[in-house]
Amino acid sequence: MKITVKVNKISYQADIEPRTLLVDFLKENIKDKSVRIGCEEGACGACTVELDGKPVKSCLVLAFRCNDSEIDTVAGMAKAGKLAKIQQAFIDSHALQCGYCTAGMMISAKNFLETHKNKKFTDHDVKYALTGNLCRCTGYNNIIHAVKAAANLIPSLKDIENKKNNNSRFIGKAITRIEDKRLVQGAGRFVDNFGENGDLYCVAHRSKKAHAKILRVDISKAIKVAGVHDIITGDVAKEYWSPISPTMDLLDLKLPRRYALATEKVVFFGEPVALVVIVSIPVS
Ligand code: FES
Ligand code: FES
Repeated sequence: MKITVKVNKISYQADIEPRTLLVDFLKENIKDKSVRIGCEEGACGACTVELDGKPVKSCLVLAFRCNDSEIDTVAGMAKAGKLAKIQQAFIDSHALQCGYCTAGMMISAKNFLETHKNKKFTDHDVKYALTGNLCRCTGYNNIIHAVKAAANLIPSLKDIENKKNNNSRFIGKAITRIEDKRLVQGAGRFVDNFGENGDLYCVAHRSKKAHAKILRVDISKAIKVAGVHDIITGDVAKEYWSPISPTMDLLDLKLPRRYALATEKVVFFGEPVALVVIVSIPVS
């Protein structure tokens, strides 16, 4: 299917398969490296972009439905080299650590601020607006602080700390991390940005039982399927891997040794039993 879209105000035309997701379209066709994939099922918000002015999770939107639409990502947020207010506020209130969630988080935050311009809002309103964006490392207090600072409701954490420690040259002074400017523009260097043609992919085959003995894993048919490069079972992996923690026995408490792939038995529903290494992601 042919589609025409504007991404960060630049027009693009592309020929895509009907099943292409917006997130894949942006990453693969447009080469926008600021868009992140976290869960691919609408749970984490890492892939949030603005579609015709509304935040959407781009892993839940088919690209062809965006024909003739305008899409904004964090890569286009800074103008003429100047960071947007929300980007600067995230830096000044230390609202990011690894920066993985930050692109999607800032899109939601920017949209919230635009829809609440000159309106009063509470912490609860900010939380509600960001409820679909999960952050695994920063926590949310500084993020909420940054949103309020971007709206000029409160000073940034940097300003608060620097004022408090006015008499000191270094101790207690806010120090801006050198990577933050890059991260708030979606230019973090994460593994997902380095895919090459010819990469291998891995899909876990998971247990459908909550507790069961593994009598044998028969890979004879699966290994012959076109595109399957290898299949790794728990018994094979055990030769190369150490057990995952906790592995320390305490007093009389003996902890079971578990591997990343189940070996003799599975102990929970969904436990990985085998890794199928393939040359491309299968269409389910
Ligand atoms: Fe889209 Fe998690 S990757 S919501
Ligand atoms: Fe690391 Fe949010 S800053 S996940």
